[in-house]
Amino acid sequence: MMNDIAVILIQALWFMLPSLVANPSAVLFGGGTPVDFGKEWNGKRILGDGKTWKGLAGGTGTGIVVGLLLFGISNILDKDYLSFGEFPGIIWIFFLLAFGSMLGDMLGSILKRRLNVERGAKAPILDQYDFIIGTFLLLFIFQFTWAYENYIEGIHILALITLLVATPILHRIVNIIGYKMGKKDVPW
Ligand code: CTP
Ligand code: MG
Repeated sequence: MMNDIAVILIQALWFMLPSLVANPSAVLFGGGTPVDFGKEWNGKRILGDGKTWKGLAGGTGTGIVVGLLLFGISNILDKDYLSFGEFPGIIWIFFLLAFGSMLGDMLGSILKRRLNVERGAKAPILDQYDFIIGTFLLLFIFQFTWAYENYIEGIHILALITLLVATPILHRIVNIIGYKMGKKDVPW
């Protein structure tokens, strides 16, 4: 029993790493043409200058690469519970995890602009959870069974709870690192 729970807690974060990594990676690749091409909607930007095509592509790509690395590691360690699934089907899961993360971040920005929150300004809860929401949105649409079995079913709900508790902490740590590296203007 104890062992089962330990496995679920490890899986909670392990399976979500491509999503967790995608978003902060966008900061490293970002710049250039904004995804909304500068367009406004009711006098406010649709997304704002903080969402760029390079950031979107770089974040998604980094998330997929991280997924492939994890796949390699799970094979080397030969641990079934770390396995995302079979190659090449798992590339689809990595894409959903990474792109969902970026999508959630963009949906968050749309909402922020509608609420008159300036680009880069703090939006508690939204800032911490938008990428997780985007990831689960895509997982539930395109990989329902995988998401359900790993994050909802029975005791696996513990994985979702772990994720929801760990995410703001990880988010905070990564943003402080980004700020110290001079990659982010604000430590949130
Ligand atoms: N970034 C990017 N493209 C993306 C996501 C992020 O270029 N799709 C880069 C931008 O340089 C952005 C930085 O990563 O400023 C930090 O991301 P985030 O905090 O999500 O954006 P904000 O600038 O805070 O903008 P918003 O208020 O819309 O969230
Ligand atoms: Mg921000």
